[in-house]
Amino acid sequence: MASPQKDIAVLIGSLRRDSINKKAALALDHLAPDSLRLSQVDIATLDYYNQDFDADPAETPITYRAFRERIARADGVLFLTPEYNRTIPAVIKNAVDVGSRPYGKSVWAGKPAGVISMTMGVLGGFGANQDLRRLLGNMDMRVMQQPEVYLSSAHEIFGAEGVIDKESTRTFLKSFIDAFATWVQHHPALAA
Ligand SMILES: Cc1cc2nc3c(=O)[nH]c(=O)nc-3n(C[C@H](O)[C@H](O)[C@H](O)COP(=O)(O)O)c2cc1C
Repeated sequence: MASPQKDIAVLIGSLRRDSINKKAALALDHLAPDSLRLSQVDIATLDYYNQDFDADPAETPITYRAFRERIARADGVLFLTPEYNRTIPAVIKNAVDVGSRPYGKSVWAGKPAGVISMTMGVLGGFGANQDLRRLLGNMDMRVMQQPEVYLSSAHEIFGAEGVIDKESTRTFLKSFIDAFATWVQHHPALAA
């Protein structure tokens, strides 16, 4: 019998309307095997993390609650990020911070994670990618190590609906998402 589909929360580190990372998420959705169901999680409307809001549950914003519940029920998390000033954009860091609290109740611990970075430049977001891996490791996530994905000149890769013209890039991203599906099967998310 086939295993049930794994629910993958997709977090995108760009709020830009024409974001390459958003197009890449569409492309991965097309390429993903049937064993994965990718769904984007909105982090644009997540309130900034403020510890005061967790001191009294009555003050905890609805956006924190909804985000934490969404991540808690995911079987894995896929991060797509640009690089901002040689590291991750603030929206990703904020999302990680919100999910990491209240203390002792992090929704990240034990979940499998995948990381993809891309920029219009030549380095493919190497700095952001490495910083994000370190951060997620610290969150005790099971971060897939290979294949690493740093997409340079990424604005030349994806069409409007995430169509990838270049076959070698399509094949590479397919190999990534297939490997991630296997990773998620072999590293089931631990109960929160
Ligand atoms: C505030 C800011 C800082 C940036 N810093 C870097 C950087 O350090 N390295 C880099 O390669 N690109 C940098 N860029 C370019 C973005 O990575 C690039 O525009 C990317 O395509 C944005 O992703 P998106 O298309 O998904 O919005 C920066 C862009 C912005 C807005």
